[in-house]
Amino acid sequence: MCQNCGAVYGKWSGRCENCGEWNTLVEQISAPAGKSVVARAGNGGHVLTAQTMRSIASEKAVERLKTGIDDLDIVLGGGILPGAVVLLAGQPGIGKSTLLLQVTAKVAESVPVLYASGEESASQVRLRAERLGAHHNDQLGFVATTSADDIAATIRSGQYKLVIIDSIQTLALDEITSAPGTVSQITNSSNVIIRAAKEAGAAVVLVGHVTKEGSIAGPKVLEHLVDVVLQFEGDRYGGFKVVRAIKNRFGSTNEAAIFEMDENGLRIVSNPSATLLAERQNADGSVVLATIEGTRPLLVEIQALVNPTSFGYPKRTASGFDLNRLNLLIAVLERRTKLNLSDKDIYINVVGGLKLNDQAADLAICMAIASAAAGRRLDDKVVVFGEVGLGGEVRSVIGIDRRIAEAKKLGFKQAIAPANSAKNEFIKGVGDLRMALIDYLQK
Ligand code: TYD
Ligand code: MG
Repeated sequence: MCQNCGAVYGKWSGRCENCGEWNTLVEQISAPAGKSVVARAGNGGHVLTAQTMRSIASEKAVERLKTGIDDLDIVLGGGILPGAVVLLAGQPGIGKSTLLLQVTAKVAESVPVLYASGEESASQVRLRAERLGAHHNDQLGFVATTSADDIAATIRSGQYKLVIIDSIQTLALDEITSAPGTVSQITNSSNVIIRAAKEAGAAVVLVGHVTKEGSIAGPKVLEHLVDVVLQFEGDRYGGFKVVRAIKNRFGSTNEAAIFEMDENGLRIVSNPSATLLAERQNADGSVVLATIEGTRPLLVEIQALVNPTSFGYPKRTASGFDLNRLNLLIAVLERRTKLNLSDKDIYINVVGGLKLNDQAADLAICMAIASAAAGRRLDDKVVVFGEVGLGGEVRSVIGIDRRIAEAKKLGFKQAIAPANSAKNEFIKGVGDLRMALIDYLQK
């Protein structure tokens, strides 16, 4: 079975035909099937009686567990719902264990909490808890285990209202022979734990590691099994770290919480825009983008560096921005404006370790590249946002009022934005990329 996508093969091969990954096939012994399932199927069913939607009792009254971090509660849709299973996914070292230890310390003030770790020993976790000030609580239990059966039994006993499992990749079920971290171990362990959580009405947070490419290690099915998937992104070393919901059965996926790591653990950044712009030097290639992270407006500096290519193909690198999108924007710039970039190396950096997934970043990226290529600066007090189409046209984006409000709050005087959003003095509307560059890259 392929450990990446779950495809099944009759014999080993070096590469999975289904997902294209190398060395992901692992042998798995399946239990001999009993009587043919298909032969029996469909005969033993009985007629279902449905409830009317109106008559179904509402569960509104259930009280959610507050994590003690307001922004995280908002991301979760108002706290953790009892019986919900949350998957917290992120790269190693980003701060998953730290965040959860901080959360458990807070939740344990009101209800009993269990922190089950398969990665660290009790004394290691105790050390970290001391650092975070999370070691005073009698209702916060810790256990070092890798047994999914034991954890499920503990959840079913109903002693704990919240159970943290760090991490799902270390768990194993006794009945399954394959190693921890393989597809069958991850799916089956998760299933057993999810069933226990629903039975006992306990909330469970599973920690999941993420591969280099950014997908959750192990099968995609894990994302389908759980109720909420939180993604923990950012730079491992310094910079901002963002928690956002990429799936939420009990709330929206539009919210994001922005953290910073210091020696006392993770801390919410209350005014991220000001922090991000604090060290800005207005050089050429620097543009301030008014973006939206979740539902929150944020000003980020985009930096571009354009150098002549010394040999071979021109190099294009982006940190915090999608490389394919960058290549597309470079193509648009070349075709629709007079810039010649075919013999230039281009580097893009989004300051603060943020990863942009906002369409409105296009115009800022283009202007940063043009500014760097031409050696012309943009006005100091200007923010930029707008989507760029293949024709070089600047398209409108969502959340214009929020972007503008944030820019005003931080003392900016103007916004270069899509033409049809120009409802007020503050916005200088631009219809296409060429005009934007001609009008605003003067100095
Ligand atoms: P960790 O939470 O162990 O990451 P994960 O569980 O996602 O793998 O820790 C992340 C990093 O944070 C670790 O390298 C050390 C650092 N750190 C701090 O800077 N300050 C702190 O107070 C703590 C607890 C950790
Ligand atoms: Mg950890």
